[in-house]
Amino acid sequence: MLEPLALLLAFIHFGFPLTYYFYAKKKWLSKPWSFRVDENYRPRVTIIVPTYNEARLIKEKLEDIYKQDYPRGLMDVIVVDSASVDGTPELVEKWAFEHRDLKVMLLRENARQGMVPAINYALRNNVSNGDIVMLTDADAYWPPSALRNIVKYFANEDVKAVTASIVYHNLEDHPNISNENVYRSYYNLLRVAESKKYATPIHNGPLIAFRKNLLYEMGLIPEYTGNDDSTPASIIAFMGYRAIQVEDVVVKEYVRRSQFRRRVRRAQHLILHFLKTKKYVKERGLYRHNEEFEVIWNIEQWLHVVNPWILVTSFALLILSLIANYSISSFILLIAGASLLKIRVYRIWILQQLCLIIASIKNLRSKDILWHE
Ligand code: GDD
Ligand code: MN
Repeated sequence: MLEPLALLLAFIHFGFPLTYYFYAKKKWLSKPWSFRVDENYRPRVTIIVPTYNEARLIKEKLEDIYKQDYPRGLMDVIVVDSASVDGTPELVEKWAFEHRDLKVMLLRENARQGMVPAINYALRNNVSNGDIVMLTDADAYWPPSALRNIVKYFANEDVKAVTASIVYHNLEDHPNISNENVYRSYYNLLRVAESKKYATPIHNGPLIAFRKNLLYEMGLIPEYTGNDDSTPASIIAFMGYRAIQVEDVVVKEYVRRSQFRRRVRRAQHLILHFLKTKKYVKERGLYRHNEEFEVIWNIEQWLHVVNPWILVTSFALLILSLIANYSISSFILLIAGASLLKIRVYRIWILQQLCLIIASIKNLRSKDILWHE
């Protein structure tokens, strides 16, 4: 009687996220934003770029920021470098000297402690008077309209964090992961839908903007998850404000080596995020109950922390009944599950589940708050 149970579990594993996806798409995505968006809103913006050994990309990154169609006098850039050994800070100094019409400040840490500590160091030393802080990665490319289109959402006081949608860049160099953008479009759609409803618990480091005072109100970005995007954004949502992903700003992320390892590490950060963030907000006395975000949070938490293990259990039951009972039907079900791997979306889904499972096992040993590739 193991097969019916295995089938039921598989049904839950696939059925729940599918139902959520179609529900969110139908009910939430098509709605207009419930607040005013002001195209002419022009706050002062500070862009923080954390770097560790980014000599290969940093110049292009700075050019990208330079090309933003936003008044240069309203922008400043802080590059915070953690003891890079490939000459990154020297390249930044040289570039800044050649582009003196943009205010660029270079902060240097003596030792590498990780991305989030570096960003916090920059926030502590931030002398600029910007209202908005934007975080970005050296391997992220913004279209020239990105900054202008992101800040317009801040015209509404309730909006305290805004992130862009992302797609992968240079996929032609990585044919083996040419699937990644399918995975992206599924997630982008879901995140935007959640945002229209209220807020999304997952934000994107390639471009995330915060109303600056919120970062200080939460006591800077906590360091327990290693991410600088989803965790501060969700804290903001738990504090009772909007933390949204928008669809009209799409930034490109460069695919680097060891993409699988990266994905596992990001999954590690996300799992820690879903296990700890709500408690963190409550302990600090910042929590304000909001039914809409509670529902979204609980579903996403379940999808990231529990749901992968339901698939594992289903698989284990089939294997068990195959070994213990020489069950033909188990064999057929396993073959059927494997042959579905021919379908792209299914394959990508399974890969993501695998990342989440490896990530939760790895978290028992090391949280990978500091990473090398
Ligand atoms: N200053 C400093 N110190 N910067 C660092 C350090 C560090 O110790 N480690 C990494 N960085 C910089 C990188 O140079 C890069 O600009 C940025 O942080 C992101 O690092 P990546 O190596 O590109 O990692 P990622 O793309 O997988 O990171 C993404 O996932 C994280 C969540 O797991 C990003 O989107 C992050 O923003 C996100 O928080
Ligand atoms: Mn990156």
